[in-house]
Amino acid sequence: MKLKIAALAGDGIGPEVIREAIKVSNAIAKKFNHNIIWNHALTGAAAIDKYGDPYPSDTHNVCINSDAVLFGAIGLPKYDNNPSAKVRPEEGLLRMRKKLGLYANVRPTFTFKSLIDKSPLKKERIDGTDLIFLRELTGGIYFGEKGRKDSGNIAYDTCIYSRDEITRLAKMGFELAMKRSNRLCCVDKANVMESSRLWRETVQALETEYPNVNVSYELVDAVAMRLVQWPNSYDVLITENLFGDILTDEASVISGSMGLMPSASLGDGIALYEPIHGSFPQATNKNIANPLATILSAAMMFEMSFNLINESNLIKKAVNISLEKGILTEDIADSKKSFKTSEVGDFLVKLINEH
Ligand code: IPM
Ligand code: MN
Repeated sequence: MKLKIAALAGDGIGPEVIREAIKVSNAIAKKFNHNIIWNHALTGAAAIDKYGDPYPSDTHNVCINSDAVLFGAIGLPKYDNNPSAKVRPEEGLLRMRKKLGLYANVRPTFTFKSLIDKSPLKKERIDGTDLIFLRELTGGIYFGEKGRKDSGNIAYDTCIYSRDEITRLAKMGFELAMKRSNRLCCVDKANVMESSRLWRETVQALETEYPNVNVSYELVDAVAMRLVQWPNSYDVLITENLFGDILTDEASVISGSMGLMPSASLGDGIALYEPIHGSFPQATNKNIANPLATILSAAMMFEMSFNLINESNLIKKAVNISLEKGILTEDIADSKKSFKTSEVGDFLVKLINEH
């Protein structure tokens, strides 16, 4: 099969983790007789430096002319510490999500048996955790009207949602729940926010279309708490953009490191795959970043964009074996011996060739 994949490395550790994901994907392609064509393009600070724009039209064209997008990370501290910066790398990511119509962000949280002691939570609390957040990605406070008033002394951001935006995301949640345990949790703040009341109302109205799915409605503050108390009590959770941003960071460390969790952003057209973690600028070019979240994002890509299940499973299997064998980057290694980003990739390639 011929696969055209846009590779957007982005900033910070992005290029290093993308390099390993490409290495592993190429090993898979060789083994299963596929032909991957990688189209590289710039985003984020790297694109601002070259084009003055964090998501230039050249990059957009590369994306829409590919079958899937593999994305690294975006962001540099020099922009974070400058509140008056005219363009920010993050804008590139938001514009890309909007222009590619990626309204649903699938963010799983699962644990690895071999890393169970690395979790900040007690073993018995996390045992069997396997949940998926569906985060709405192109609406809410991220995209609502924002600005300043009163000579800059008042600032506002608006959380705005339409029934249609909620419906398409919620339907995806119901469908996903039906493939799993028929449990769906709608996370909102309906005791305070009007947009949350529309979420709840819209999801409630869909319940009759999915009679087998058991829906619970929980307030976001309570979910934040229960996620660290009983993460294994959840299965599929749907929520709006900002709540999803915050809760998925919280959930991602349950596995032991943020460097382990992949994600997929879906819409009606092309899909994008990226690690949940950010650009980790302090680690740039040190060859210490954990590439597994990006490599597992590539596994999601093989499965979801190309329906190549064996290919995806072999990546996941290789990742499990390498973790069991202690091929760990320094975020999860406890002894003095840790492995470099590129060594983890090399080891996975070797495993893939052997299996
Ligand atoms: C994420 C990131 C982005 C977000 C930033 C970089 C704009 O934190 O993908 O979760 O807030 O959505
Ligand atoms: Mn985030």
